[in-house]
Amino acid sequence: MAVVTIGTYKEAEDALKRTDLRQALYDEGAILMKKVLVNLHGDEHLGRKRVVTKVLRPAFFLHYEKNVFGPTLEQTLAPYVAAGKADMVEFGYRVMVNLTADFAGIDRTARSTEETDAIVMLLRTFGKAATLGQALGDRTAIRADIQRGLDEFDAQFFTPSVRRREALLAAHARGEIAEADVPRDMLVAMLQANDELHASHDVLMKEMAFYLMAGAHTSIHSMTHAVHEFLEWVKAHSEDRQRADDDPFFLQRCVYESIRLHPSSPTACRRPTAPIELPGKGALDNQLFGNAIAPPQGSRPAKPSKKPPYKPTYACYKNPAPNMNGPAARAGKADTGG
Ligand code: HEM
Repeated sequence: MAVVTIGTYKEAEDALKRTDLRQALYDEGAILMKKVLVNLHGDEHLGRKRVVTKVLRPAFFLHYEKNVFGPTLEQTLAPYVAAGKADMVEFGYRVMVNLTADFAGIDRTARSTEETDAIVMLLRTFGKAATLGQALGDRTAIRADIQRGLDEFDAQFFTPSVRRREALLAAHARGEIAEADVPRDMLVAMLQANDELHASHDVLMKEMAFYLMAGAHTSIHSMTHAVHEFLEWVKAHSEDRQRADDDPFFLQRCVYESIRLHPSSPTACRRPTAPIELPGKGALDNQLFGNAIAPPQGSRPAKPSKKPPYKPTYACYKNPAPNMNGPAARAGKADTGG
């Protein structure tokens, strides 16, 4: 299959809106990703998405922001503050694991350090499924590692969580408990809609593993870059250190800018499901692709002579620049060529 590479904002926007182009970035990670939301297409995607949007509502995030994140952050930060230092990636895992497990519907009954360590280890393992297409190591060994992780996740976390929710839903159906006593998470939403979705235990288990990983890895990556960029920025602009405390919108713009410079998913990949034509390549729009970290609101100075600090190879730091459009065309082979 011929590979077409798109590098401009307008072409990407056009391609991403085409309903006859389907997700192809995760083909290699089928062991976990085959039937998860991000990899579904057409009606199957729409059906699953309808269920997600029941949970992914502003109220869920508002509740998190106002009631949960504050105490969780304080608790998670305390040992790092006492130690006077923190590894941002390690810290990120410990913060995000709470949000994504609650959103997915994975119970952590022990609430112990050992339990957090176990789930963080599983998150790291599941992350390998999303990047198998770009991995240069032994993919068979990586797949075996992911399978071990899935088996462990199923036994230790997923099966107990699904059993508890099934019992709560049955008790609610018998009128024994109120709706408010049933958790509002993805697993409950999918169980409630399962007459329509027909998702097996295996599909539900992998969907929850995906939710755990999709929310955590992206956010940890983005947060680590944002903190680094901000600390670098204030070395040269010391007045902005205080400004970040006084003006949350300034800090938010810095985060947005860092996300733009370091996208969690540096490339997207799509495969046509029908013959299609894509318009020719246009020039890069410098208004959108400037390279300043914290520009004044509404403007983003373009410096065409200077490369932006975003380095594509950093996404897979040991790899030569991968051709991410390749996996669909050459599934199973190392993805390093053009
Ligand atoms: C900085 C944080 C995040 C970034 C940069 C990010 C990035 C992305 C990207 C690029 C995709 C689309 C992939 C594609 O279609 O090719 C995606 C999909 C998705 N993300 Fe995130 N994400 C973030 C946080 C989260 C969080 C916190 C959650 C859940 C709590 C989440 C859940 C999902 C889900 C469920 C999908 C699949 C949507 C669908 O296919 O309909 N993400 N994310």
